[in-house]
Amino acid sequence: MKILCCGDVAGRSGRTVVCEHLPRLRSDLGLDFVVVNGENAARGFGITEKICKQLYEAGVDAITTGNHVWDQREIISYINGDPRLLRPHNYPQGTPGRGSAVFTLGDGRKVLLLHLMTRLFMDALDDPFACVQAELAKYRLGKSVDAILMDIHGEATSEKTAMGNFLDGRASVVFGTHSHVPTSDTRILPGGTAYQTDLGMCGDYDSVIGMKKEAAIARFVKKVPGERLTPAEGEATLCAIYVELDDKTGLATGIEPIRLGGCLSQISPL
Ligand SMILES: [Fe+2]
Ligand SMILES: [Fe+2]
Repeated sequence: MKILCCGDVAGRSGRTVVCEHLPRLRSDLGLDFVVVNGENAARGFGITEKICKQLYEAGVDAITTGNHVWDQREIISYINGDPRLLRPHNYPQGTPGRGSAVFTLGDGRKVLLLHLMTRLFMDALDDPFACVQAELAKYRLGKSVDAILMDIHGEATSEKTAMGNFLDGRASVVFGTHSHVPTSDTRILPGGTAYQTDLGMCGDYDSVIGMKKEAAIARFVKKVPGERLTPAEGEATLCAIYVELDDKTGLATGIEPIRLGGCLSQISPL
């Protein structure tokens, strides 16, 4: 199975770069499944129904989110009706939406997508390690599902790396999101799980993690409330990982980082 996982889509620039490159990547790489993190897709804050549909039309199979999931209020009533849109699984019971879903591909293969949020420097949530342990007890990689993917959304590299190793050999791919900066630790862990601590964002890197520089810098310099943060609108870089899985075991046989467009150094999979 061939999988593409794209980092946080930041504003219009991020949506544009995904819609520009994804159809070609999908056919040239023969992708079976594409997941993107959409928590910043709507002007940097949350996601809307219209943007979900735009991403699906571009070739996205599933959208994960994170701490910004509810920033656009319309998504609270929309999410239950969209099985392809996930919010973190370890939100309190009764929260709208879902954080775990099985997707059936056209040929019948099954992909389990898990979406958890970490706790260091983040909101206080249920223990993501205990939550994922309980969820994984329902499935067996290579038996009941052909692939298990996890978006671990959080700030601390330590907590995300711990999660990757916690799932090593039990998940096909574990990737981090939220920091908007790609890490260079792309690898297959000893047990066969493809891993990268953070995918980075699909957004304009001539910015402060996707937002216009002046207002973002002022927040650090002045320490008083100032101008509202708005997304940088220059050419974006698409940051992603491309993963190949062994169809018998569901474990990874290859992982490559991708960076296309914009001002980051380029890494093309083709
Ligand atoms: Fe984000
Ligand atoms: Fe986030």
